[in-house]
Amino acid sequence: MKNFINLKDMTTKDLRRILNDAKKRKKKRKKLSTLDLDKDKPLKGKLIIQMYEKPSSRTRLSFHLSIAQLGGGSITIKANELHLGKGGETLADTAKILSTYGDGFMLRTGSDKKIEDFSKNLTIPIINLLSPSSHPCQVLSDIFTVEEIKKKPISKLNICWIGDCNNVLNSLIATSVKLKFNLNVGCPKNYRPPKFVMDWVKKNKRNINIFNDPKKAAKNADVVFSDKVVSLNDKVNKLKKIKDFKNYRITPSLMKVTRPQSIFLHCLPRGNEVSEDVFLGKQSRVWQQALNRVHVQKSILLYCFNKLR
Ligand code: CP
Ligand code: NVA
Repeated sequence: MKNFINLKDMTTKDLRRILNDAKKRKKKRKKLSTLDLDKDKPLKGKLIIQMYEKPSSRTRLSFHLSIAQLGGGSITIKANELHLGKGGETLADTAKILSTYGDGFMLRTGSDKKIEDFSKNLTIPIINLLSPSSHPCQVLSDIFTVEEIKKKPISKLNICWIGDCNNVLNSLIATSVKLKFNLNVGCPKNYRPPKFVMDWVKKNKRNINIFNDPKKAAKNADVVFSDKVVSLNDKVNKLKKIKDFKNYRITPSLMKVTRPQSIFLHCLPRGNEVSEDVFLGKQSRVWQQALNRVHVQKSILLYCFNKLR
């Protein structure tokens, strides 16, 4: 049994095993319908419990499909429906109960510590469905999408992130180290990745290029990523932050400095950080990106249950 909490704690080999498994499984489903099971039904008999302390559209639905296609069952609960959420039961007792009824637990939360505490108290795997510091399922799935579209390893591509230094960027930074790809970040000075993140990158003998000028960051990019300026867990002056990012909008003029076949990706939901014509334009692959969550998350689950082929 393994947990899937933070990409920086994974080995390169395991990340590659997950991506390869997803590729094989996706290929085999070409003629299957949404709820048809994968032939081997590797999660048959298993119940996976998803818990959300924050809103989610894609993660909850895509994981519902991932689990169903693997032959497992899932239940989705909101934290405030539990005794734990209302303060009437300890996390340790809740974890014991989750481990009694379920075979896997997934959590979207505003507290990284809560994920850590659950991981210590559960006897079943835990998957991070988004926390303040990381969004590992999203980013591993995005790597899959990039390699699927570009038909080459991400290490041969220029990846650019324009936007806030948030959970998604943290996970992207972690994969840039593990999978060794070039990552340019375009963001205002006050929103740069924190020192401990840059120190970790340096310790691992890699480098991230940070630019104040978004056009410099995007120059010759094969992929431009963006995300909402204000994240679910942000406790900031939202209006000020949005204003601080006003020059970091992804527009056709920004996309012009990228490579000719470049693509635009966004984890969604979106805000004003990308113009409508880019978001809905021919370089955008955001819907394919969202769909691939289903495929990659299946392999993440199989990694947790030691069932990767
Ligand atoms: N991208 C993503 O995680 O979307 P949701 O917040 O809708 O789950
Ligand atoms: N950075 C965003 C991602 C949403 C999927 C957030 O945390 O709200």
